[in-house]
Amino acid sequence: MTAALRVAHPRPYAPDAEITIRGLRKTFAGSPVYEGFDLDVPKGAVVSVFGPNGCGKSTLINMVSGLMPHDGGQILFSGKTIAQTRLAYVFQNYREALFPWLRAIENIRYPLRLMGLPKHEQDRRIERLLATMEVRFDLSRYPYELSGGQQQTVSIMRALVVEPEVLFLDEPFSALDYEMTLAMRDRLQRVFMETGVTMMLVSHDLEEAIYMADRILLLTRRPTRIAAYLDFSAPRPRSAETLTDPAFVALKREALEIFQREVRA
Ligand SMILES: Nc1ncnc2c1ncn2[C@@H]1O[C@H](COP(=O)(O)OP(=O)(O)OP(=O)(O)O)[C@@H](O)[C@H]1O
Ligand SMILES: [Mg+2]
Repeated sequence: MTAALRVAHPRPYAPDAEITIRGLRKTFAGSPVYEGFDLDVPKGAVVSVFGPNGCGKSTLINMVSGLMPHDGGQILFSGKTIAQTRLAYVFQNYREALFPWLRAIENIRYPLRLMGLPKHEQDRRIERLLATMEVRFDLSRYPYELSGGQQQTVSIMRALVVEPEVLFLDEPFSALDYEMTLAMRDRLQRVFMETGVTMMLVSHDLEEAIYMADRILLLTRRPTRIAAYLDFSAPRPRSAETLTDPAFVALKREALEIFQREVRA
């Protein structure tokens, strides 16, 4: 409340925003990462976050998702507080993200148990998710019995099963091989098309950032500003053809130019 009163920001509130960030401030050891940072994440959009190493991509989604406190400013979810919003988070390091003592299916069920849903409702949600994700491996296995891609599929399912309004993903494919990455991108895209969940996706791969996104947030070096917030409106489902589409190629070139300019600056 105090922060809300203190920050007199000229930027109006966008009515279609799922996440509204105003005057965000974050300092590590006296050195600012974010200072007066404003951003709107449109409802039902996939926003990719791209920028140089250490510019604050993880810090941004960690603050927005409530995993990390911020030092000032406001973060609002469709005008609601974070506590009134259903959020889910997929960590980069899937090896540490799953509970090793629970079978894959019980990992997925875990948040539903926490929510106190009856067993039949838990099963219904899991069934529905399985159909979307086209899971072909045995979910009665333990995490250590699964490949990296299978484990990351389980952690993504555990995030999705709560039917979040907003899903945060921090470089979710970075530990997967290329084939698995392509498959996971497409699964995630299918989920997005079916549920319309708002996503903030950190990616260190510019091609992926654009391929997945409706909006691409290009960040500068610290103290971090928005270098550009680009639109990519290619129809979904996107596929390998998207990557050679002239609109994609042109946007990638533009984003790369901005990135290089910002990194050199
Ligand atoms: N807990 C912390 N204490 C001190 N400094 C931190 C802390 N967390 C992050 N930083 C610093 O803040 C900056 C942003 O870190 P962050 O992890 O958000 O960057 P990133 O863009 O996600 O980087 P990467 O591309 O390497 O994942 C970095 O300079 C980092 O060293
Ligand atoms: Mg990071």
